[in-house]
Amino acid sequence: MRREILLTPGPVELHPRARLSLSGPQIHHRTEPAREAFLAVREGLKAAFGTAGEVVVLTASGTGGMEAAAAGLFAPGERVLVPVSGKFSERWAEIGEALGLSVERLELPWGEVLDPEVVLERITGETRGLFLTHSETSTGVLNPLAEIARAAREKNPEILVVADAVTSLFLTPFALDAMGLDAAISGSQKGLMLPPGLAFVALGNRALSTLKPRGYYLNLARELERQRVGEGAYTPAINLVLAARAVLRVLLPELDAHLEKKAGWNRALYALGERYGLRPVPAKGGEPAPEAYRSPATAAFYLPPGVSYKELAGAFLNRGYRIAGGQGPLRGRIFRVSLMGYFSEEDARRVLADVEEVFKAL
Ligand SMILES: Cc1ncc(COP(=O)(O)O)c(C=O)c1O
Repeated sequence: MRREILLTPGPVELHPRARLSLSGPQIHHRTEPAREAFLAVREGLKAAFGTAGEVVVLTASGTGGMEAAAAGLFAPGERVLVPVSGKFSERWAEIGEALGLSVERLELPWGEVLDPEVVLERITGETRGLFLTHSETSTGVLNPLAEIARAAREKNPEILVVADAVTSLFLTPFALDAMGLDAAISGSQKGLMLPPGLAFVALGNRALSTLKPRGYYLNLARELERQRVGEGAYTPAINLVLAARAVLRVLLPELDAHLEKKAGWNRALYALGERYGLRPVPAKGGEPAPEAYRSPATAAFYLPPGVSYKELAGAFLNRGYRIAGGQGPLRGRIFRVSLMGYFSEEDARRVLADVEEVFKAL
């Protein structure tokens, strides 16, 4: 079988350091080398999330991290506000509901950038939590989290702001404490360019003082206790932890340049699409959103009239690339192309040239 190159917004092309690390022998997770790696990854992630608090590494996908954070920070019945404008913000609402929280859904058009004022209107003194999505991968929108968090806290100083950073960490500047967030979640198979399997939950100091041991496997408080000494409560995906250390070692020292490179590639994807008349999905007030509101994790376009997603995905597959379609109400209406994974400059140029050929043929 010909190997497909992933232009999907997760999972992504692996970092070579991850592949190298994963080819090593199995180690036991309750040994000194495993503990060292675990602690190093937690420290590296604290720097990446920009928090003086803690990071818990879970053997789960990103959704597991979201559930763990919601369960550990909120008790059943507590009021949380969830602006829903895409698949992953909808997931926040579903998780809250499954955990018995009192979820107030603020339903908004999918693809629109969140307007801080609209969110603010719905926050009251009773709102205990605000669940936000930084990079809404299903629509390609990058939401103005810091602005929303600041406004929310001005209105209700007690509110806990929890952010899905699954496709923003390592792709766009992120700083949990400085952005006024209390907790954030990411996953291994996105900006870190690892295989799927790890979720990262960052907790600022306010979240840490609220955290309660709830649930069993996804119990953040219990995990944190063990992880402070470099172990997981159960058998962690230690091979992925080792691979994460290997990638963080090279990624963190050059993070600013890396973010610029990713933003540049995504800008190039949008420029190509717009040159061939494609309409971007991210929108602000119904118009194509300015670049600041387009997530560097993926470019998302409406399908041109008369072209089905199957047809377009087939054209990419013929050139050896897998792309992604729309989800929920956007299924069959949009497509997404992402350079989130690992590409050398030369490979990225080749991909962009091939993307142009496909667009031209449309
Ligand atoms: C923004 C966002 N949140 C959450 C998730 C869910 O992550 P996972 O599929 O790892 O559970 C994804 C996955 O694509 C995502 O892009």
